[in-house]
Amino acid sequence: MENLRDVKMALLGSGTVGTGVYKLVQRQKEELPYKIGANLSIKKVLVRDKNKKREGIDSSLLTDCWEDIILDDEIEIVIEVMGGIEPARTYIMEALNAGKNVVTANKDLIATHGKELLDAAEENGCDLLFEASVAGGIPIIRPLKQCLAGNHLTEVTGIVNGTTNFILTKMSEEGMEFDEALALATELGYAEADPTADIEGYDAGRKVAIMASIAFNSRVTFDDVYTEGITHISSRDIQYAKAMGCEIKLLGVARNTDTGIEVRVHPMLIPLNHPLAGVKDSFNAVFVHGDAVDDAMFYGRGAGELPTASAVMGDIIDVARDIQYHCCGRIHCTCYKNLPIKKITEIESKYFLRMLVADKPGVLARIADKLGKNNVSIAQVIQKNKINDHAELVVITDSVLEQNFADALVSIREMDTTKEISTVIRVY
Ligand code: NAP
Ligand code: HSE
Repeated sequence: MENLRDVKMALLGSGTVGTGVYKLVQRQKEELPYKIGANLSIKKVLVRDKNKKREGIDSSLLTDCWEDIILDDEIEIVIEVMGGIEPARTYIMEALNAGKNVVTANKDLIATHGKELLDAAEENGCDLLFEASVAGGIPIIRPLKQCLAGNHLTEVTGIVNGTTNFILTKMSEEGMEFDEALALATELGYAEADPTADIEGYDAGRKVAIMASIAFNSRVTFDDVYTEGITHISSRDIQYAKAMGCEIKLLGVARNTDTGIEVRVHPMLIPLNHPLAGVKDSFNAVFVHGDAVDDAMFYGRGAGELPTASAVMGDIIDVARDIQYHCCGRIHCTCYKNLPIKKITEIESKYFLRMLVADKPGVLARIADKLGKNNVSIAQVIQKNKINDHAELVVITDSVLEQNFADALVSIREMDTTKEISTVIRVY
């Protein structure tokens, strides 16, 4: 195709995702003019260390100077794949204020500073797209914001952390304990050197905050999300879950209820017949419920060089089309409500409670009494194993207020016949 306009871009970062984006721009070079109606090229690549060897990247594009990009009027799209809050936040703000469109994969930033960045994009008539910030290669931001915009969405529940899903899968299928499965995830490169953000649920919490804001049209930030990780889950819990026809998954749950928004990340027993229960290894999935679409699920790779670059490229192509048709800033922030966010003590759930108690007559009756006095009704007592001199009890409750369950737990813990509360896990 001849006489096409050139859309020039700058990459901020050439690590895992940046390298993937660079590769896809090269790989799609011949196709992009047909898809967009313009040529697309990377003019500069910002890095920390210009001397580092970067396989496949034209070294003449590298710069360690932000001014080379922000002051370059030819650059119309800035692709932020550096990560972290600063200087990413400042660079994105400056880019938007200079009238440049921005694509980012940065969940940490969008989950905490999303509003100010989206406001700046709107004021400047620019696009700010962030598809890759949630669930890597899985399209979910655009479906929530556009394809499902005709719905009143009431639930967005996801397995949005591949590292923890890999660990739980190994515990479930190979009987590994948490530490062994984490070591394997580290060896295979799924888990970071410091896996805290993954195993404590913070990474998933950021993604759930972003999804909830878009799905429920009301701003939710990472600070609003209750997070609980998977470090306390044992293969024993998983065996009990299986006996009940369930898997244990780290779920990011966002619900839009009549009394406010619930946003939380924690392990959950989920029945095997739920589509999320079959999501294994490092795969991600997001389950959505809307009043018109009913149930829908999005499944795929939540991280990695090319899957994440795939989402970034989709955004880049969208921006380039908007540039072509002079309609940048077409879709802005859609948080037009201000819904209350519920505390974790205000949610209702079923609970799985595993404990060690004295193996004596009347103990189970006294536990049932403590639960009953706090309005917690028992759905089933599923097992009673003997461990040394104690009995292992697993109790499943009906759906109850979390505060009531927490109060009951305090009084059960105080009983002289209670040796240990081993695990408490919510049930989907
Ligand atoms: P990464 O491999 O650590 O790469 C970061 C890149 O940014 C490096 O090239 C680094 O330069 C550059 N950089 C960092 N700080 C800089 C600064 N102050 N000035 C200039 N350059 C700087 O990170 P990544 O895994 O690609 O992740 C990038 C973003 O994508 C993050 O927001 C992450 O959350 C998000 N994301 C990643 C994945 C994934 O699978 N990795 C999935 C979804 C979303 P040097 O090379 O010189 O050090
Ligand atoms: N650490 C994340 C995961 C990938 O394990 O899913 C980046 O979002």
